[in-house]
Amino acid sequence: MIITIDGPAGSGKSTAARKLAARLGIAYLDTGAMYRAIALRALKLGIRLNDAAGLIASARDARIEVMCGPTHSRVLLDGNDVTEDVRSMAVNGATGFVAREQAIRDLLVQRQREIGRELGSLVTEGRDQGSVVFPHADLKFFLDASVERRAARRYQEMTADGESVTYEEILNNLKERDGNDAHQWAPLLEPASAIHLDTTQLTIHEVVERMLEEVSRRRLTAHATESCGAASR
Ligand code: DC
Repeated sequence: MIITIDGPAGSGKSTAARKLAARLGIAYLDTGAMYRAIALRALKLGIRLNDAAGLIASARDARIEVMCGPTHSRVLLDGNDVTEDVRSMAVNGATGFVAREQAIRDLLVQRQREIGRELGSLVTEGRDQGSVVFPHADLKFFLDASVERRAARRYQEMTADGESVTYEEILNNLKERDGNDAHQWAPLLEPASAIHLDTTQLTIHEVVERMLEEVSRRRLTAHATESCGAASR
């Protein structure tokens, strides 16, 4: 059983995906962390963000490993666990430059499909999971929320993690990313078959309960999955 959750930045898809996967006892895959890890590598190596060829070469050389299970999704870059490092503001700003490169998307999409095949059952979240990566997913969700609500959630998450950031910075960052989402690279597409959930007024508990209702309404059965942990090359 493949369940996809897509939506704009801060719509709550990561938390929803993690909790849904835990309730179903299947693996959870955070695909944004894979793009973020490629961006972190470029920053560490001092590759200019407008050097597309440099970014692509670095992505091809990168060893991205994803350790995913029902209660965790960790990302390793060249052997180091960078799950926390990829959440910084610097990486936030750089990831768009990576995610717009089709050659990098192709690499990561291929890897995500391999993980799907390996595991059989998976809750995966991103912006293209239901539209591009798993068009034949058993169940697709599309989450949305007002930009102010999304900024408030991100602010809470990041300050809880000790990041020094203001609400306004996050709001502006999200507005900018929404702008990117609206056009050019990998547009955020809502598959016709996706269930649309506006989470502005919903608690995370309510979101997950609605998702679980859909799973049981469709009588989908999860094959309890092992964790994944294979390298990308
Ligand atoms: O969901 P997130 O904030 O971790 O995503 C980080 C960046 O990666 C953001 O710019 C969107 C991009 N991304 C993408 O292009 N495709 C995905 N499947 C997941 C994330």
